[in-house]
Amino acid sequence: MSDLVIRGARPYGAGEPVDVLVRDGVIVALGAAARGGDEVDGVTIAEDVQVIEAAGRILLPGFVDLHTHLREPGREDTETIESGSAAAALGGYTAVFAMANTDPVADTAVVTDHVWRRGREVGLVDVHPVGAVTVGLAGKQLAEMGTMAAGVGRVRMFSDDGHCVDDPLIMRRALEYAKSLDVLIAQHAEEPRLTRGAVAHEGPTAARLGLAGWPRAAEESIVARDALLARDAGARVHICHASTSGTVELVKWAKAQGISITAEVTPHHLLLDDSRLETYDAVNKVNPPLREASDAEALRRAVADGVIDCIATDHAPHAEQDKCCEFAAARPGMLGLETALSIIVETLVTPGLLDWRGVARVMSENPARIAGLDDQGRPIAVGEPANLTLVDPDTSWTVRAPELASISGNTPFDAMTLPARVVATVLRGRVTAHDGVAATVTQRVRL
Ligand code: DOR
Ligand code: ZN
Repeated sequence: MSDLVIRGARPYGAGEPVDVLVRDGVIVALGAAARGGDEVDGVTIAEDVQVIEAAGRILLPGFVDLHTHLREPGREDTETIESGSAAAALGGYTAVFAMANTDPVADTAVVTDHVWRRGREVGLVDVHPVGAVTVGLAGKQLAEMGTMAAGVGRVRMFSDDGHCVDDPLIMRRALEYAKSLDVLIAQHAEEPRLTRGAVAHEGPTAARLGLAGWPRAAEESIVARDALLARDAGARVHICHASTSGTVELVKWAKAQGISITAEVTPHHLLLDDSRLETYDAVNKVNPPLREASDAEALRRAVADGVIDCIATDHAPHAEQDKCCEFAAARPGMLGLETALSIIVETLVTPGLLDWRGVARVMSENPARIAGLDDQGRPIAVGEPANLTLVDPDTSWTVRAPELASISGNTPFDAMTLPARVVATVLRGRVTAHDGVAATVTQRVRL
């Protein structure tokens, strides 16, 4: 592999510009920007070198997404590991966690190992398989978490996402097993007896539009219950896509008790609210639903305060026929990988709630720590693996759904003009995306 030099970027958006020299997937030198020259901090650059000019750009550790739906196996008409990996690389991600609600469900090591292998073959982002907590996501019987954790895919996060592990006894056992295996349970918090038929946030907007409502308590009752179950099991629990101000209060309370709880929020729950439903366009249908403006405000503050640990996209591609239909019949979910950074800038950086150091924390360091990845979310320093994301903070761009790398086009951000953009992504020294173009898929690799 040739050397890679990133010239003149500012790590974490602070301090003086630096040159970064990457060799064999590792940062080998880092020093004051030299504007050319054949060395970085005394280390001679090889003749075979790829240079990325990065003046004015911000260098961050590669992003880690704990919540991605890649739809392979089963719905390759909507996304594949290959197309989703390209979307991830373009969005600045160097690792994603692929949710288990595929067909077949990722509830055995056969499936989770396949997802891992296919991700390695594609080579654009580390695709970590999420294992199902229960067989078939049915909530009745624990899946073989141990064999999935021991497979080549080394599953370290389990979730029935799309469904809630609603039976408290099953959830309790899952937490106990997870503790002994040192893996994480990520809960889609939704009490199903409170959301039967629900398609929108329960509130004035849904009432006026005649849409069946999904009350905040459906989420919050599970968050409270799982915090207590985690406390008693001495286990860790992670809350997927927090969407209400009450969830923020509960997570804050649980952390204050010393409970090992972490939480993520999606870009769409930070930016959008249920006023978007006025048009009945199902591109805005998602689980949990878009809430009220006051919830979005509480979620933004919770990221700034550290109550919510990280941003996760819940990237959920869907076919046109599953979205362009009656609101109640449409599938929930929206794309997220390629727009996440820009929405974080719009909702948190521009208003002054988060600086670039904070962006690194919630997009990279915290998710890597929560999932137990030791090669991601690392400092930008000599000797560290070169998993990096280069951002242009001063640009803006207009989202065009057909131009995204995802096979599907269900983005609520279509035609929106958003600030900042990922310019390049580097995975173990390889440039996986640059100037809006993803690298070609690597050849088949022997594992
Ligand atoms: O909106 C959602 N879509 N929420 C989920 O929990 C699942 C996801 C999907 O798989 O489409
Ligand atoms: Zn979910």
